Amino acid sequence: MLQQLDLPSYKEKEPAVAERFERIYARPVVLEARSVSRQFESARGPVDALRDINFNVHRREFITVIGPSGCGKSTLIRILAGLDHPTSGQILLDGKPVSGPGPDRGMVFQGYTLFPWLTVKKNVMFGPISKGLGPTRAEQDAMQWIQMVGLEKFADHYPHQLSGGMRQRVAIARSLANQPRILLMDEPFGALDAQTRSQMQGYLQQIWQNVDVTILFITHDLDEAVYLADRIIVLAAHPGRVNEIIEVPVPRPRSPQQFMDPRFLATRARISELIHPPGEHREEKLPLIRMTLATDDVL
Ligand SMILES: Nc1ncnc2c1ncn2[C@@H]1O[C@H](COP(=O)(O)OP(=O)(O)O)[C@@H](O)[C@H]1O
Ligand SMILES: [Mg+2]
Repeated sequence: MLQQLDLPSYKEKEPAVAERFERIYARPVVLEARSVSRQFESARGPVDALRDINFNVHRREFITVIGPSGCGKSTLIRILAGLDHPTSGQILLDGKPVSGPGPDRGMVFQGYTLFPWLTVKKNVMFGPISKGLGPTRAEQDAMQWIQMVGLEKFADHYPHQLSGGMRQRVAIARSLANQPRILLMDEPFGALDAQTRSQMQGYLQQIWQNVDVTILFITHDLDEAVYLADRIIVLAAHPGRVNEIIEVPVPRPRSPQQFMDPRFLATRARISELIHPPGEHREEKLPLIRMTLATDDVL
């Protein structure tokens, strides 16, 4: 039923969606992965964490990366951030090879990475001050970013006084305050409860609309991958490689009502099929032990 919509055929069926992608591809490439491979040595021999990864991210594009655990998602984002280096291949930012970390790439991780001894405002001011911006100007800018994530009432609070979702909003504001070319996010909402997570997806979409920034977002959540993305990079494991790059034919701005849109469901079904191929061994059957209290069958 869900497979009825052949994703690539939307170009004929939905000119508006096709036009949106033409606009995206007409924009300059901000980030390029060129034949990136990363091998690790392990006790059991070399591990191909990533093999021959190629993709482009266009300016203001929202890319999500999804794949099974161990397919190299974190390795990829660490290489993009310059925290790790490919064994072969190259990362280009605005056409220039990346050789280490830099303020042109902002990072937001799952774990809370704020400085616990600094207030929200001081956390957000930290990057710009380190870059040499004067304190008055840094404070003004910080307040704007804090306002953008809706936390102006909490500017003088410390991280431990905030909820998980609020802390991640501060982490986003702190990254954006450095005015990065691209925001790299590694499962940033992975530790949040479902309701907060969905709220955060809404905030992130608004922020992305209002700020001149490109986003590459790693997730293992199918709905999140579809909801946020222009395109989804689906990785496969062992070796970590690009399985498919999917254009999401769901119009923007997105809203939770679209979770039931046939285009949304078809995209989600396609990723699910790639990540869990039919017939794949799923789970071991548990030994059946009938508890004494269960006197009738529930199935
Ligand atoms: N520093 C390392 N040393 C050895 N092996 C590593 C290292 N980092 C990651 N790996 C291996 O590379 C593969 C990809 O890991 P990772 O990037 O963390 O995957 P993901 O984030 O998709 O779960 C895994 O098999 C993992 O064990
Ligand atoms: Mg990971």
